[in-house]
Amino acid sequence: MARVEVRGLTKHFGSEVAVAGIDFSAPEGHFVTLLGPSGCGKTTTLRCLAGLERPDAGEIYIGDQCVAAPRQNIWVPPEKRNIGMVFQSYAVWPHLTVFDNIAYGLRVRGIGRSEIAKRTQETLDLVGLSGFADRYATQLSGGQQQRVSLARALAYNPSVILFDEPLSNLDAKLREHMRLELTRLQQRLGITAVYVTHDQSEALVMSDTIIVMNHGRILQQGAPEAIYAEPASRFVADFVGVTNLLPVRVAEAAGATGVAVAETAWGGAAVHSMPRAYGVAGGT
Ligand SMILES: Nc1ncnc2c1ncn2[C@@H]1O[C@H](COP(=O)(O)OP(=O)(O)OP(=O)(O)O)[C@@H](O)[C@H]1O
Ligand SMILES: [Mg+2]
Repeated sequence: MARVEVRGLTKHFGSEVAVAGIDFSAPEGHFVTLLGPSGCGKTTTLRCLAGLERPDAGEIYIGDQCVAAPRQNIWVPPEKRNIGMVFQSYAVWPHLTVFDNIAYGLRVRGIGRSEIAKRTQETLDLVGLSGFADRYATQLSGGQQQRVSLARALAYNPSVILFDEPLSNLDAKLREHMRLELTRLQQRLGITAVYVTHDQSEALVMSDTIIVMNHGRILQQGAPEAIYAEPASRFVADFVGVTNLLPVRVAEAAGATGVAVAETAWGGAAVHSMPRAYGVAGGT
């Protein structure tokens, strides 16, 4: 398993800045989620990690290895990064059996037949699809297809796994079930995971660390409880929680993170010990 480290990652498409110089790390065995609205640069960040996009600037490390650093002319191609990736669209081949869908990636890596049979069976067991090896992908439900794509990503023992909204095509009940299953499996394997979603409840229940993004930048990163209870900006508060925003006037404040006393517009009521004051109408 390996840690992931991203420094100053920048990616433009023409004149548009998709990722505007972000820094984060995913410690070994941790589940780190990139959370943010559509177009904020989540997929682009993930694709840079996987080696499917070349960054314009910055550095990416997987374990001790620098896999991308344009300034030093360092570029490691995707197949040499030992990273597994699971997409929203499943991306399973309909004309292949479940077995062949998983075996394909192993054959490409030059692994022998008996080893392929062994690893394919092991990963099918792992994702709960033991009896499905000979079925065609078209004969599977959406949830089962997603498990095939998970098995395929895990089959060659990657040190890092990347997920791009893997559950958003599933119905609500299955999505909740798969959230649990995914995190259990990730913990059992001790694999480092970088997960992308725009679903705040998914991020809150699954992650060790949440990284909130908007317009290609990181607005806040931290443990789910901290992001939820102490949003550093109005955007994060709005995006992460079901919030009630009260317009108040700050009557007294002790330091940046200290106690504040705020009066509501209708007077009388006071709020003490606000963790942080942000976006306060008429206040400081
Ligand atoms: N291949 C591309 N060519 C041009 N622009 C692109 C390309 N890929 C992404 N972009 C642009 O970069 C920005 C970030 O896109 P990205 O796909 O990373 O967003 P996202 O956070 O994954 O959004 P979503 O939640 O909708 O998937 C967007 O403005 C998008 O239009
Ligand atoms: Mg995306």
